[in-house]
Amino acid sequence: MAPMLTIIRPDDWHVHLRDGEMLKAVAPLTARQFARAIVMPNLKPPVTTSAHAKTYRDEILAVLPQGSTFTPLMTIYLTDATDAGDLVQGHKDGIITAAKLYPANATTNSEAGVTDIKKIYPVLERMQKAGIPLLVHGEETNPEIDVFDREAVFIDKILKPLRRDLPELKVVLEHITTLEAAAYVANEGKKGRLAATITAHHLHINRNAMFSGGIRPHFYCLPVAKREKHREALVKAAISGAPMFFLGTDTAPHTQAAKESACGCAGIFTAANALELYAQAFDEAGHIERLEGFASRFGPAFYGLPVNKELIKLEKASGGENKIKAILTGGGQQIIPFVPPSPVLWRIAES
Ligand code: NCD
Ligand code: ZN
Repeated sequence: MAPMLTIIRPDDWHVHLRDGEMLKAVAPLTARQFARAIVMPNLKPPVTTSAHAKTYRDEILAVLPQGSTFTPLMTIYLTDATDAGDLVQGHKDGIITAAKLYPANATTNSEAGVTDIKKIYPVLERMQKAGIPLLVHGEETNPEIDVFDREAVFIDKILKPLRRDLPELKVVLEHITTLEAAAYVANEGKKGRLAATITAHHLHINRNAMFSGGIRPHFYCLPVAKREKHREALVKAAISGAPMFFLGTDTAPHTQAAKESACGCAGIFTAANALELYAQAFDEAGHIERLEGFASRFGPAFYGLPVNKELIKLEKASGGENKIKAILTGGGQQIIPFVPPSPVLWRIAES
């Protein structure tokens, strides 16, 4: 019989659902696997107020399949002009779960992001007091810094001083890609105020994947994949059973045309098969039994939310790969899913 695994239904602590036709195409895929998801606010225009977060949440709920119990957890996008009062009230009202820091121009749709962390210190102080987590895109934005060094530089230059100044602020360093980040979070995360999400794709590829036989736009995201030793450090962190590391796919859909262009945009799309990709990576590392903690327990513990009640069943096919097809949006655009270099044998078992 094929190996099976039943775990508590997981949550995705970092997802881009977009809006309009794209949202309609991708939200059901996330809802098929995950009970809840932290929804990123980098729409055009970004979600900067609790009122916008509320209308965006309604838009998401409206496109879910009938009977879906999926819960979107909303975030707001911090800018130099964020209204702390609105953020704290939105959190009190149960509309906002967290706030996202995009250093200006660090990644896709981050032009309106924060230009200097000091400018939002008053907002961060209010967040610290109210217990609102700060979610961080941790990359240095100085274009002179090598793109492969930007995460490590950000930790030294921005994150360490920030955590010294605001030691009680809850911080999630999102989609970590380096051994420096994994080591920093493992050391500093013991008191439950610092954690990191790890994507499925960063467990599967190193930077060579982007250049194997030619330029491969569907392996390009930010923070960009690094050397093999960094991928290995991420796998080690994910399977370690340490609660400061948990699942966040950073699934970031773009149309095929936007990816396959002379200036293709950053973002890897894993919503169609994320849990299966994680199961494959954990299994390859010899620790499939640690998947449940990483996927279903440590995230809720950090956010102070209950663990889900439902279960989900996965099975490993003895032969035959779990092939994922391109997704077609209602607008007639294709989204190309992430297919790792090695076959994915795990799949969600239909119950
Ligand atoms: C994300 C996107 O497309 O919105 N892209 C990415 O490469 N991860 C933005 C982000 O999370 O950096
Ligand atoms: Zn993201």
